[in-house]
Amino acid sequence: MNARAVAVEVVRSVVDEGRHIDAALSDHAASLDPSARSFAAAISFATIRRWWLIEAYLERHLKRPFNKKGRYLHFVIAIGLAQLDQGRTASHAAVNETVSLASGQWKWARGLVNAVLRGFQRKDTALGLEDSPERAHPDWLAAMIKADWPSQANSIMAANMCEPPLWIRINESSVAVEQWRSKLAAGVSATPSEALSCALRIEPAIDVSQLPGFDVGDCSVQDGAAQWAATLLQCEPGMRVLDACAAPGGKTLHLLQQTPSLDVVALDRDGGRLERVSENLRRASLTAKCITGDATETKWWDNKPFDRILLDAPCTATGVIRRHPEILVNRSRRQVEEAVAQQSQLLDQLWTLLKPGGQLLYATCSVLKCENEHQIASFLGRTPSAHERPLPGNVGLPTTYGHQILPGNVNGFDGFYYALLGKKDD
Ligand SMILES: C[S@@+](CC[C@H](N)C(=O)[O-])C[C@H]1O[C@@H](n2cnc3c(N)ncnc32)[C@H](O)[C@@H]1O
Repeated sequence: MNARAVAVEVVRSVVDEGRHIDAALSDHAASLDPSARSFAAAISFATIRRWWLIEAYLERHLKRPFNKKGRYLHFVIAIGLAQLDQGRTASHAAVNETVSLASGQWKWARGLVNAVLRGFQRKDTALGLEDSPERAHPDWLAAMIKADWPSQANSIMAANMCEPPLWIRINESSVAVEQWRSKLAAGVSATPSEALSCALRIEPAIDVSQLPGFDVGDCSVQDGAAQWAATLLQCEPGMRVLDACAAPGGKTLHLLQQTPSLDVVALDRDGGRLERVSENLRRASLTAKCITGDATETKWWDNKPFDRILLDAPCTATGVIRRHPEILVNRSRRQVEEAVAQQSQLLDQLWTLLKPGGQLLYATCSVLKCENEHQIASFLGRTPSAHERPLPGNVGLPTTYGHQILPGNVNGFDGFYYALLGKKDD
């Protein structure tokens, strides 16, 4: 299979099977060489980002929708349009190579794919991503973003359509930031964030294994917004800390690199993902007790309460759409409600494991208020022992409860939400 054929398979898996782009790429692009793999990835991401614009375009330009048998052609045309949108790929190659994917189907298929793509090239040329990013969102999500963020909705939706920057975190306990920067290869820049000393934005977004000291843990990939967690939790040496939804372990690693003497329990209900926490810790020669278990119950717990709890909650991930555009395609309004119910259950259960005087940091990578400030408002309303504590840092926008970082807004970070909750002493 060539890169374009792989992209068709990836897009099909995302749209028809609800898969993540990254997972579909690792299955379908495994046999491609690195440059073909990154071409397949670029086409897949570009197509999924534009999926609703492409659907609207095809609705206007196809006489009737493809039946089940012809659905492959729908995806072939979709990757063709994504390549041609605003002349993103050399148009001859994009049309010819994409049309040739239709060969081997029906006689008329080649002609049809050719006609749609050439028609787009001649008359339309752009799908409208820049002019109207809202149209690239499903209606229910655009409505929620507009209701929650009336003044910022357009910039949030525009940020969702951008290619995400590469942020890394320097492990300041092993190397000073300036010393690390001095080892960077020529032609690669590392721009510090205004907010966090250890966050650097790398341009161009090179293969991270080529960054100095990556293999020995001097740096790790982590968006700047996520790097706030370890600071905000305010751990002191020797404290007992629960990282309740830990996998793949970016924040567990940060907590321990910052304060190696912590007694950390890293919990996740997904044993496969938890393996990655163990691997990351091993690579950095750090230790935590890794437990596969469900944080909405206590079967896994040894009855020793925690000084600090990090709840990096499962959420709709609507703050990281630029990294995971499949959210635009396979998230539903019902999943938002399910996430809210799950987060509220997690908050209630984990609260019982916190020592009086202890602190719980609640985090999501969502921009929806029902998962963030409204979630915390309800929790505080039903939990007399809880109060909100100020965040020690200038984190995004203060909201009624907690702080919201909007995507692309502060330093070009991902969308993230933090609220710090203190438990009253008995
Ligand atoms: C946002 S991710 C955590 C990212 C992680 N903190 C990091 O920084 O790398 C949410 C995680 O919560 C886990 N999870 C979801 N429900 C859970 C539950 N009831 N108990 C424990 N873990 C859960 C998922 O398996 C997923 O790994």
